[in-house]
Amino acid sequence: SVAPASWDRPLEGKVAVVTGAARGIGATIAEVLSRDGAKVICADIPAAGEALSETANKVGGTALALDVTADDAGEKLAEHLLERHGGADIIVHNAGITRDKTLANMDDARWNMVIAVNLLAPQRITDTLLAKGALRSGGRVVDVSSIAGIAGNRGQTNYGTSKAGVIGLVQATAPVLAEKDITINAVAPGFIETAMTAAIPFVTREGGRRMSSLLQGGQTVDVAELVSYFASPASNAVTGQVVRVCGQSLI
Ligand code: NAI
Repeated sequence: SVAPASWDRPLEGKVAVVTGAARGIGATIAEVLSRDGAKVICADIPAAGEALSETANKVGGTALALDVTADDAGEKLAEHLLERHGGADIIVHNAGITRDKTLANMDDARWNMVIAVNLLAPQRITDTLLAKGALRSGGRVVDVSSIAGIAGNRGQTNYGTSKAGVIGLVQATAPVLAEKDITINAVAPGFIETAMTAAIPFVTREGGRRMSSLLQGGQTVDVAELVSYFASPASNAVTGQVVRVCGQSLI
């Protein structure tokens, strides 16, 4: 049945994990999930330090130092969830990095690091949470892909490949998770104003902004609102999908 108009905290009683939550899109996802009723575990690399505790305090959640590429990242997270919350309902794989180089200058270290954070970690952590019974039935997995994984982007063969891989992962995992009544979907942001995009050269950055028909960079909240929809009961029948958040990208 259709939710009543007063149903404004659709994630009430849910436990959510957001990786890469110290800043940028992840911090806003944590904020929106919390606004919508979830208890949020904000995870980020130990070096994120103060920024991570600030996000956690802001959203009334918990901070968890977790490098998603660590061998025991899934186990550590599962243990935390089972001990403190009896498991989680929502995991948002938002942690991501770029290590841009033209293809001629791309090296193994940059390639492997980007694939490890952006593609291998979400897959391994989801697998481990399931194996340990730390993701409850009725659960939600949301992966953060990118328009670069759909359309490619100059200088980002490693990044584009990792983000395209995330889409394949989501589509391939959906039928398996459906057996456990868990959905998995991906958001594919276009150019969003964060520290990640502030670091790219001016001309490329301006170009990125103009790829949107809105002719400006997107805001982190644009992505976070879609993540919250995928995390909510409203998206019960939606799985294996990838939705672009890029103002009707011109690419
Ligand atoms: P950001 O660089 O501002 O934040 C990324 C966060 O992830 C940081 O707090 C960082 O410490 C954390 N992180 C990095 N490696 C980690 C690891 N090994 N373990 C745990 N945490 C780690 O980036 P932004 O822009 O907020 O991006 C968030 C996600 O959105 C990424 O997956 C990115 O690829 C994706 N995205 C961003 C777009 C943009 O235009 N900003 C466009 C499309 C996708």
